Amino acid sequence: MDQDIREQVRARYALAAVQGTGDAGCCGGSDGCCDGTDVVVDERFGAGLYGAEDAAAVPAEALAASLGCGNPLVVAELREGERVLDLGSGGGIDVLLSARRVGESGFAYGVDMTDEMLELARANAERAGATNVEFRKGTIEDLPLDDATVDVVVSNCVVNLSTDKPAVLAEAFRVLVPGGRVGISDVVAEDHLTPAQRAERGSYVGCIAGALSRTEYLEGLAAAGFVDAVVEPTHAVADGMHGAIVRARKPVAAG
Ligand SMILES: C[S@@+](CC[C@H](N)C(=O)[O-])C[C@H]1O[C@@H](n2cnc3c(N)ncnc32)[C@H](O)[C@@H]1O
Repeated sequence: MDQDIREQVRARYALAAVQGTGDAGCCGGSDGCCDGTDVVVDERFGAGLYGAEDAAAVPAEALAASLGCGNPLVVAELREGERVLDLGSGGGIDVLLSARRVGESGFAYGVDMTDEMLELARANAERAGATNVEFRKGTIEDLPLDDATVDVVVSNCVVNLSTDKPAVLAEAFRVLVPGGRVGISDVVAEDHLTPAQRAERGSYVGCIAGALSRTEYLEGLAAAGFVDAVVEPTHAVADGMHGAIVRARKPVAAG
């Protein structure tokens, strides 16, 4: 069952990568969104959520491929020399923006399970002339990175697509150095919405049905070992559901 959902997600985003445009609006799109029959363009998802400065800093193709629900770098507060990991890096926009912020002494990794997205991201990195980036194939539930190798984990509208969110949060915790932090954009439901009510508001592959509630997110982060967690809604994406910024920290004392 979970394997079926993951395959639907992979197929949906493979198609989005080949179409090469965030206008296909997979996040937020209806079930026909990526077959070219139902093109969704709106202010809830994608390129419009980046400010002019960030939008101008990446190749047009990377901006157009944006399928996120926010700009996680706004909260990640990246510094020169830091190592960053983007969970579900898609066409690479947040990896490229991270790479600029951390500079040549830093490094930005992207992990994605979809070959077509990895190909698009690598092409966008080449267009950008970025040398301090690497896109790795893998799942966010079983990250292809060693323990304690990154300072910051970012992600943009991907955790909601996972069928094993505790594993995603545990993996983010594992690869962070002690004192490391997460800055995630994601869709989050108000606490009163049941899973069935979330599913009434949009599909799983459309980034709606699989969204955690605010309390579920906070509890999940705490269970993984994170501290100082905050979930802040930024904009409405459906009735009772929001684009949100999620922040948390791995304790310095954590091994
Ligand atoms: C909604 S798109 C977001 C892409 C990118 N973060 C952005 O903001 O444009 C979701 C991406 O996550 C990837 N993805 C979804 N579930 C995944 C998983 N379990 N493991 C790895 N990648 C996943 C998809 O292949 C796709 O590229």
